[in-house]
Amino acid sequence: MIVGAQWGDEGKGKIVDLLAQESDVVCRYQGGPNAGHTIIAGGETFKIRQVPSGVISGKTSMIGAGCVVDPEVLLAELDELGSRGIDTSSVVVSGNAHLIMPWHVAIDQASERRLGKLKIGTTRRGIGPAYADKASRIGIRVQDVLDPKILRQKIEVALAEKNIWLERVYEVAPFELEEIAARYESYAQRLRAYVGDTSLLVDRALRTGKEVLFEGAQATLLDLDHGTYPFVTSSSTVAANAATGMGIGPTRIDRVIGVAKAYVTRVGEGPFPTEIQGPDQERVREVGGEFGTVTGRERRCGWLDLVALRYAVRLNGLTSLALTKLDVLSAFPELPVCVRYRLRDGTETEDFPAHQSDFHTAKPVYETLAGWREPLDGELPAAARAYADFVERTLDVEVSLVGTGAERERVVALR
Ligand code: GDP
Ligand code: IMO
Ligand code: MG
Repeated sequence: MIVGAQWGDEGKGKIVDLLAQESDVVCRYQGGPNAGHTIIAGGETFKIRQVPSGVISGKTSMIGAGCVVDPEVLLAELDELGSRGIDTSSVVVSGNAHLIMPWHVAIDQASERRLGKLKIGTTRRGIGPAYADKASRIGIRVQDVLDPKILRQKIEVALAEKNIWLERVYEVAPFELEEIAARYESYAQRLRAYVGDTSLLVDRALRTGKEVLFEGAQATLLDLDHGTYPFVTSSSTVAANAATGMGIGPTRIDRVIGVAKAYVTRVGEGPFPTEIQGPDQERVREVGGEFGTVTGRERRCGWLDLVALRYAVRLNGLTSLALTKLDVLSAFPELPVCVRYRLRDGTETEDFPAHQSDFHTAKPVYETLAGWREPLDGELPAAARAYADFVERTLDVEVSLVGTGAERERVVALR
């Protein structure tokens, strides 16, 4: 199980791709096209939003019940991968996954506009509204594409309500039933071939000794229950939800690898204690190429936050960490690492605050580690190794992999 340990974009795609080489099945269990996972292998770059990263290596790639699927995005992605010579015939989508419909995207956009300064900074892909309809039990599911009559009927019922919201509440243009029904029937015709019982298939794979990898999207601090609410995504991102999202029992997951950058980034709004003030922020962004994979937005950059990472160790039961982008820190002579938060009342804590107001006002307490000022290639210089060791010691979790560049091969196995 591979899970993002910070606020997303930690390099999960790269780690999944690497481990997929020795796996048979790769599963996405939550989220949708808000994800943007980058894989660089064999001189080619892939940016994937909806399909599990294992597809690049021709592995069986499953989209579980806990996901939301935008058929337009999914089909375009499959087409693009196909045109680049990638075999997508082993992609399977759970019939229980929910469809992102055009009104979800429109409502996501309109709602962000309406919130103004209070906006969440979503990816505007309709994620929140689609999960909201799922929870309200009025969503349209992937299995509804199997029957044209049911699909049309569900679209009709949904639109009758959504158009009122769009016109009267958000004051944007409504959708036209015939146009949407025709467009989604054409998507449905193509999607049918990919629908399957992903829970059963994963169970069978595990029973026959296959290696199954779960690919988390978004990340721990964006988790709907445990993240920095309301500045979170609308699904449960943490490791335990891999079981629910795919439809297997929690006892089947034996290892959980947290992916963390050697520093921290965050896209969108919300508190961020170690966000760098001053020119170093720009420098990290430039050296690290910190611009959104999906939205192109500038990512906010900060120093490594071990209080937040300790929380990720707890929430996910991490058995090891992959520390990515250590090479980016070669640009800095000294490296502040946050080891505690100072709270409003002057006390200091190593544990992530349980209440929002404490977190919003928490100030980082840094320890400064020595930099190495040399490119990382091959064996790590002593100071870089010491940086990884410091993380390991402070959190009491082994750092098993260190990322030293974007390509698949640019990784050092410490264990
Ligand atoms: P994900 O959403 O967690 O899969 O991460 P993204 O793909 O959105 O962002 C991570 C970015 O960092 C991508 O551009 C990767 O190619 C890149 N990357 C991943 N690992 C490393 C690394 O160890 N070093 C460097 N320099 N770049 C990396
Ligand atoms: P990957 O899988 C980084 C953030 C958005 C916003 C919040 C809610 O590539 O790591 P949403 O559209 O989900 O309702 O947006 O969550 N967000 C991500 N940030 N990486 C992601 O995915 C993200 N997916 C959502 O920026 O702050
Ligand atoms: Mg990403």
